[in-house]
Amino acid sequence: MRPPGGPRGQRLRPLLGLGLLLLLSRASLSAAPSSPHNHKPCTVCRNIVDQFYKGLADTEKKNFGGGNTAWEEKTLSKYESSEIRLLEIIETLCESDAFDCNNMVENNEEHLEDWWFNQKKNYPDLFTWFCVETLKVCCPPGTYGPECLECPGGSKRPCGGNGYCNGDGTRGGDGKCKCHLGYTGPLCMDCVEGYFSTWRNETHSVCIVCDRACKNCTGPTASDCGECEVGWVWMGDTCGDVNECAAETPACDEGFYCLNNNGSYSCKECDPSCSGCEGEGPEHCINCTAGYAQEDGACRDVDECSLPEKACEQEHQKCFNTPGSYACACAEGFQEKDGTCVPSEDTPEDEEPKETPKPSHEDL
Ligand SMILES: *[C@@H]1O[C@H](CO)[C@@H](O)[C@H](O)[C@H]1NC(C)=O
Ligand SMILES: *[C@@H]1O[C@H](CO)[C@@H](O)[C@H](O)[C@H]1NC(C)=O
Ligand SMILES: *[C@@H]1O[C@H](CO)[C@@H](O)[C@H](O)[C@H]1NC(C)=O
Ligand SMILES: *[C@@H]1O[C@H](CO)[C@@H](O)[C@H](O)[C@H]1NC(C)=O
Repeated sequence: MRPPGGPRGQRLRPLLGLGLLLLLSRASLSAAPSSPHNHKPCTVCRNIVDQFYKGLADTEKKNFGGGNTAWEEKTLSKYESSEIRLLEIIETLCESDAFDCNNMVENNEEHLEDWWFNQKKNYPDLFTWFCVETLKVCCPPGTYGPECLECPGGSKRPCGGNGYCNGDGTRGGDGKCKCHLGYTGPLCMDCVEGYFSTWRNETHSVCIVCDRACKNCTGPTASDCGECEVGWVWMGDTCGDVNECAAETPACDEGFYCLNNNGSYSCKECDPSCSGCEGEGPEHCINCTAGYAQEDGACRDVDECSLPEKACEQEHQKCFNTPGSYACACAEGFQEKDGTCVPSEDTPEDEEPKETPKPSHEDL
């Protein structure tokens, strides 16, 4: 619907506004970081083609409804190659909120129609025809950039088969190789440090990780190290683990013991009963902490309450043993007052002293 008449400027302004909006959304799109396999227009196109093939499969068994009659086949042409089927498929190509997808489909519906009715026979691969050759948003596999140049190492095995070519299959990217772990170089044919080459000719290269005792190597074992990794030391014919715990200066702080492992070591806290230790638990103490004593080869808690010398010296006091220590408290029927235990006021001494004292009214 067009607004009736009116001066030109008034009609132009909203259009300009829309143009600005489109420009802005385009700018924000192109500002998004382009990762090698994420060239946006190509990804959108590829998804459309995938959905198209899915739509083809979904409508494969369909017909005009109740089977093609002879009349239908003659006059409407078969459902299989009908416009109705094409429109049904186009309906399903994009999620309703997928702006880029809907935009691409809407702008190129006539191309899809052209392929459906005219090109399908000669160009059976929709992706190549639509995304690569017609819209020119994608490139054939192994090529990249606006001109679809060959990736380093050739389009058959880009990056020696040991990496990704930046922009591979899209009109974007710079074609640089991003090598898989262990490989480096412009064609991903060289091994990084810590890997060694087991096979290399003009087109193929295989790098294998060194033993973890090696910084670099010529083969798979610790005997093939060129140089030992930190924490390992050359022992005549192989790189062996350094036992940091056997060093003259203790590797761990006081109160901790040292645990050696391959390539390194760790420090663990001693048992609370230990004053210095050589390992885990009360059996590996060097000395016992106060309140503990050596017994059967371990530091055990001392029961201060059963020592010949009374631990709780005051009259009417009771002794309670605790791990590493003890506590004194007034016996039942007594309460503390000015540092001594005196008979409780509300509980007569000889009347059921075993009963737990009830809160007295005077306390309230
Ligand atoms: C390189 O090695 C690969 C893998 O073994 C082999 O398939 C290929 O034919 C070799 N190429 C040449 C030129 O020798
Ligand atoms: C290992 O690295 C050292 C030091 O960079 C070097 O001298 C040696 O040649 C290397 N050996 C191997 C097998 O790569
Ligand atoms: C180091 O690794 C070897 C084999 O992987 C193992 O037999 C050995 O017990 C390890 N040594 C330490 C201290 O963990
Ligand atoms: C253990 O404790 C005793 C008494 O305090 C002390 O003489 C001795 O040196 C300590 N031993 C060690 C290995 O710390």
